[in-house]
Amino acid sequence: MSHHIVEVEDLKYAYPDGTQALNGLSFRITHGESVAIVGANGAGKSTLLLHLNGYLSSPGGKVRIGDFPLTRETVADIRKTVGMVFQDPDDQLFMPTVFEDVAFGPANLGLADEEVERRVVDALTRVDALRLKDRPPYRLSGGEKRAVAIATVLAMSPSILVMDEPTSNLDPAARRQFIELLATFHHTTIIATHDLDLVLDLCARTIVLKEGRVVADGPTLELFADEALLAASRLEKPLRMQGCPVCG
Ligand SMILES: Nc1ncnc2c1ncn2[C@@H]1O[C@H](COP(=O)(O)OP(=O)(O)OP(=O)(O)O)[C@@H](O)[C@H]1O
Ligand SMILES: [Mg+2]
Repeated sequence: MSHHIVEVEDLKYAYPDGTQALNGLSFRITHGESVAIVGANGAGKSTLLLHLNGYLSSPGGKVRIGDFPLTRETVADIRKTVGMVFQDPDDQLFMPTVFEDVAFGPANLGLADEEVERRVVDALTRVDALRLKDRPPYRLSGGEKRAVAIATVLAMSPSILVMDEPTSNLDPAARRQFIELLATFHHTTIIATHDLDLVLDLCARTIVLKEGRVVADGPTLELFADEALLAASRLEKPLRMQGCPVCG
């Protein structure tokens, strides 16, 4: 199924102030892969993800989602295919209540009211946030906002999930529930994260970024065993791969 392929070629991006965030970055992710994007603060992870549904675009670079190059003409359809969880939930939540925020996308698809409501209840239940449905999003805690932001994307039933630091601010139980939820998602998933234990649980493949370039791309376990690569990329082995200091 080629429609879940994500391919980027030679992405180069400088922010308006001149900061060069991406320096010629290419990869191809095929249907059903779950891929982690890791790297130090400022490595370019968020900038890369924002290219995947056209929030940013790289002059000369290419993004292809499934059979379509991302262009002005295809961007609206591609945004229905690629569900994006932003690094900052405040970029995602803007309606007066949680319910309306989660309903916004499905309602824009033109779905019937009952189907919209079904999707909202289902998405909020899956992130254990149904109790928040009548609350204003801007008054929620950081972790609650994160859960609702994830629900807004789940409610769209995207074929490709792109998530930027989805577990930051989640408490351990919410994080574990989220990992279990994602483990049931069999479409293409791309996760930028510093949570390397999550990567170990969910992503068979990892792409390591440094200064806007891909410095490694391969099986997660192999990359995480490469101490020199981890050190050069300001990463640490997941806790589960570190020796236990008590039992030796
Ligand atoms: N709006 C902006 N204007 C100017 N420079 C920016 C902007 N956003 C990010 N940058 C710069 O672009 C580079 C890449 O930033 P990016 O946010 O993509 O990194 P990241 O890998 O997501 O980091 P983090 O782990 O901290 O989220 C950094 O040098 C950053 O300072
Ligand atoms: Mg980021």
